[in-house]
Amino acid sequence: MLILGVETSCDETAAAVVEDGTKILSNVVASSLELHAKTGGIIPETAAREQLKAIIPVIENALNEASLKPADLDAIAVTNGPGLFGSLSIGVETAKTLAYSLSKPIVPTNHLVGHIYANWLENSTPPAFPNLDLLVSGGHTELVLMTDHGQFQWLGGTRDDAAGECFDKTARLLGLPYPGGPPIQKAAEKARKIYALPRPLHDSKDFDFSFSGLKTAVALQVEDKKLNDQEVADWAASVQEAIVDSLLIKTKKAVEKYKVKEVLLAGGVAANAKLKVEAAKRLQVKVYTAPPKLCTDNGAMIAAAAFFNYQPVPFQQIQADSSLFF
Ligand code: KG4
Ligand code: ZN
Repeated sequence: MLILGVETSCDETAAAVVEDGTKILSNVVASSLELHAKTGGIIPETAAREQLKAIIPVIENALNEASLKPADLDAIAVTNGPGLFGSLSIGVETAKTLAYSLSKPIVPTNHLVGHIYANWLENSTPPAFPNLDLLVSGGHTELVLMTDHGQFQWLGGTRDDAAGECFDKTARLLGLPYPGGPPIQKAAEKARKIYALPRPLHDSKDFDFSFSGLKTAVALQVEDKKLNDQEVADWAASVQEAIVDSLLIKTKKAVEKYKVKEVLLAGGVAANAKLKVEAAKRLQVKVYTAPPKLCTDNGAMIAAAAFFNYQPVPFQQIQADSSLFF
């Protein structure tokens, strides 16, 4: 089954064609990141305007790269939430128009579920059930138990900032560009010392996280100081270690409580090399992570999620919904 996945929840305009939920025939991502780097973060209005410019060329490129015509598609999947309403609407309305004009089924797909299904793409040994999913992105930090396709039990999540948001905000404090995860990871490679930073909620009995205190702790120590490259590297490594530690303390607790044998890392922060290495070392279960370009927002993960949870809906019933959750 050939599914076109369309993803426009935030600042990436993405479309991909995936066969049977696993084989990527094309995966095109256009990002308005450079514009957001200038403003140090995403301005929703700017993101939506850029989505509008990119959506048709991105879909065209995805079909061309897969050497397909629109009529060859079996279905269209589109992210209908959560995300920025303006950005989401552009993908949703474009996908609806396409589905209507081509008389193809359309499958509304949850962005968070999409991130988890990145682990099924191009993977000869796909995850089994039950598995524990650590979903870490710019807007979310959630621990979820997945008992079957489309069956999720939410265990806990962040009470304030998301892990990716913490990378982004501390990067800004360190004078590093947006989005902050990749430059923090790179700067951290040159670190020579680690500063003491808190691991908020590390001993709480729930599966919740908190990252805003971490950002504040860094701010209190670096704001108004001119840091040299070595100090930036040391702070970057310290923040990265504190985030990874906080994430894995709760993940390990959940692995033990729910006795799962597999953990799936998902979302943009799952692209972090330190998180991957430490998860494999500390969790002592099989850890899945997609390659970095499938961890960050893309259309292939949406097509995969739609294939394994195939539920077409009349296009008149589909709307962007920024508040969707599991
Ligand atoms: O999943 P995603 O592309 O978009 C959302 O759904 O939010 O995640 C974006 C987030 C950003 O906060 C970015 O800083 C973070 O993922 N990120 C990383 C890395 N690559 C992206 N964080 C840490 N290390 C990375 N290598
Ligand atoms: Zn995302």
